Amino acid sequence: MSVASDQMEESVEHKQHVVNHNHTAHHLKQYFFPTEHVPRLSASDPLASQLIAEEKPVVLTDTNLCDTALKWDLDYLAQHMGSERYMVFLSNNHKFKYYDEAKIKQYKTNFVPPTRRVDLTFPEFVKKLREWKPGDERVYLQQGLNNTVGQAIVMDFLQFNWQWLNMQQKNNNWGPLTSNLLLVGMEGNVTPVHYDEQQNFFSQLVGYKRCILFAPEHYERLYPYPVYHPHDRQSQVDFDDPDMEKFPGLKHLQGMEAVVGPGDVLYIPMYWWHQIESLPHLGNTVSVNFWYKVRNSNNNLP
Ligand code: FUM
Ligand code: FE
Repeated sequence: MSVASDQMEESVEHKQHVVNHNHTAHHLKQYFFPTEHVPRLSASDPLASQLIAEEKPVVLTDTNLCDTALKWDLDYLAQHMGSERYMVFLSNNHKFKYYDEAKIKQYKTNFVPPTRRVDLTFPEFVKKLREWKPGDERVYLQQGLNNTVGQAIVMDFLQFNWQWLNMQQKNNNWGPLTSNLLLVGMEGNVTPVHYDEQQNFFSQLVGYKRCILFAPEHYERLYPYPVYHPHDRQSQVDFDDPDMEKFPGLKHLQGMEAVVGPGDVLYIPMYWWHQIESLPHLGNTVSVNFWYKVRNSNNNLP
């Protein structure tokens, strides 16, 4: 058997493993904290609506939210994204830790960004991704869906299940939808643990992502950077090499996790910490975020 088909078989086996075990995480890397499973429910299950109303995470299996985008693989996107340049991050390791470019200017101490931002056309990005070999910089495209995207993408977008989304927004008294971020990543890419200040429906389109979440009550146990730091909202803790002496609260950390695949929507409540990992061996990943502002938010952290 050739190397290629060996690899293919391995990848199929992994995929079935993930799916057969109801998206549980047996074979996944073990971290230093325990986790429970995020409930996986039908969008029509009253418990799903209840969890969203209570700002608890849930994976919804049948929202049909982005059915028209399940075909957004690299070839389709390369053909239809249009000729603009899109935001791509490059990293020397598997982590893509977010930093606020505006805060770098005000931050007095020397700050070395952990990733490099470049603007590439979609075909340029795909070439980098397809030609990647160990030792090369990893790539992660993170681009807001705006009016620069091509007509076919716009048509697919218009056919998202806006009825369901608008109902969620109304029932939960959320503010406006502020942005849709398209994320196109390589297997093994990791967005390290952080929290966002908006409600998020995280819609998985292609490939598999492991999502690890912590309730806002764990705020102190994850040691966020100071608010003026470019890594504001990010944890100072490196999950691959946690410093238990410097960060003793880590001993009491307890999380939740889920593996999401094509068609799944994970609700990530505002202020919930999350780390998102494109699973190794299972191919590239494509996701779209739906971020909602909160109405009358007092903007105080819990
Ligand atoms: O890599 C990711 O998919 C990250 C998403 C998020 O932080 O919302
Ligand atoms: Fe996030």
